Amino acid sequence: MSYRSLGFSADPFSNKALQADEEGEKLVVDREAEVKKLVRRVQESDKVPTLEGPNGVGKTSIINIALHRLLMQSQRDENEPMFIPCRCSFQINKEKGAEEFLDEFYLQVALTLVESANMLRPPPGYTKAPIETSIKNYIQSPIIRNYTGSILGNGLGYGGTPNSGKGWERVGFRAAIDGWLKLLFPKSEAGGVVCVIDNLEILQSSAKAKETIEALRDTAFTVAGVKWILCGSSGVVRGVASSTRLAGWLHKPINIGELREEVGGEVYEKRVETFRKNEQATLPLTRDNFITLFDMFKGNSRFALDEAGAFCTWIFDEVDDLSKIPDDSFERWLREELETNYDEIFVFFRDRDEEAFKGICQQEIFVPNDCSELGFDDVAEFTAILDRFQNYGLVTPTLDQNTPEDTVYEISPKSLKLQYFIDSQADRE
Ligand SMILES: Nc1ncnc2c1ncn2[C@@H]1O[C@H](COP(=O)(O)OP(=O)(O)OP(=O)(O)O)[C@@H](O)[C@H]1O
Ligand SMILES: [Mg+2]
Repeated sequence: MSYRSLGFSADPFSNKALQADEEGEKLVVDREAEVKKLVRRVQESDKVPTLEGPNGVGKTSIINIALHRLLMQSQRDENEPMFIPCRCSFQINKEKGAEEFLDEFYLQVALTLVESANMLRPPPGYTKAPIETSIKNYIQSPIIRNYTGSILGNGLGYGGTPNSGKGWERVGFRAAIDGWLKLLFPKSEAGGVVCVIDNLEILQSSAKAKETIEALRDTAFTVAGVKWILCGSSGVVRGVASSTRLAGWLHKPINIGELREEVGGEVYEKRVETFRKNEQATLPLTRDNFITLFDMFKGNSRFALDEAGAFCTWIFDEVDDLSKIPDDSFERWLREELETNYDEIFVFFRDRDEEAFKGICQQEIFVPNDCSELGFDDVAEFTAILDRFQNYGLVTPTLDQNTPEDTVYEISPKSLKLQYFIDSQADRE
């Protein structure tokens, strides 16, 4: 058995971010307010909008839906600014220096413009949007990545004497794209290519993230005809946004929390409707089963979808016909999953572990310095517990700050499963 043999066109529980397309629009649940906030910031301000929130809550999906709406609005009404989503998002890491980042950025923007040629609007004085054929040829040529060709020396009128040196090629290429963008988007109100820097937490320390973004302030962020969005897990964007060098450049973060627990059923229904090829197609996991998982993970869509997928995979491995699935399969499977999770972790709990665990489950995101709120006066004792919890996979440090006491931790899906199991045991008693 498989999703396909059951009449589905694709895995309905895929944990990929919703895409910036019609399908994304069909699947999205309960993010109207967040999407509107982001759309408005992109449309109405030159400041860089920022988003942050825990792992897997749906940040990238919100951005993609907003990008799709912006593009649709531009296409519907020619009086609206033209916003074109960049063909891929960007990530920053410690290995990639600012120059390498800029190379990648200019190349992707150029490719986006070439691929969107039929959407571009003619600037004042033109009957048709100008396409820089030399840029087009250049980026489509195999030599582009090395900046060794000399195509930019011909035809564009930038940079004076053609020169095969690497430095000139880079400068010439960037100048050519800058010029093209300026022509297409002469004023900020005309719109631009929308570029996203996602997963800023990859930089780990928020000080490092701050430094890198600061380095882009006077380069990438000032390119006319380009709009930026920054996104990362809890704490990182706030850290970056607090930089004095960036003051006035960034919006305060839009906080993205888990979906409301009451929308679990809707998440399931939209997936079934979107992916089923005929009315009769059904899944081994029911709407109620999905709601159970969604509640267990407190509205974290990634965790709930992963677990739903794990159950279906298990069923597909075990049973070859949907009609042969016993009624209580899901309950039995879940109970076993939860018991195993409990047995792997809880037996090792000692001293004040259980007390600390209850506290962090309520906080969900925390720093060791929060320990006094959880009844622990000694940060060292609490940090030692967190080290153990990290080894059990109960917490994940998402962001190193300057001192270990300020490291931002998030609780993991394992924690949520353990907490759910402990609570359900207590309810039984
Ligand atoms: N509003 C929503 N409605 C339905 N499904 C959603 C919604 N938001 C997110 N999802 C689903 O939840 C999962 C996680 O979403 P997404 O990748 O956008 O989260 P994220 O916060 O960007 O995660 P990460 O922290 O790993 O970058 C994906 O499978 C996505 O399709
Ligand atoms: Mg993401």
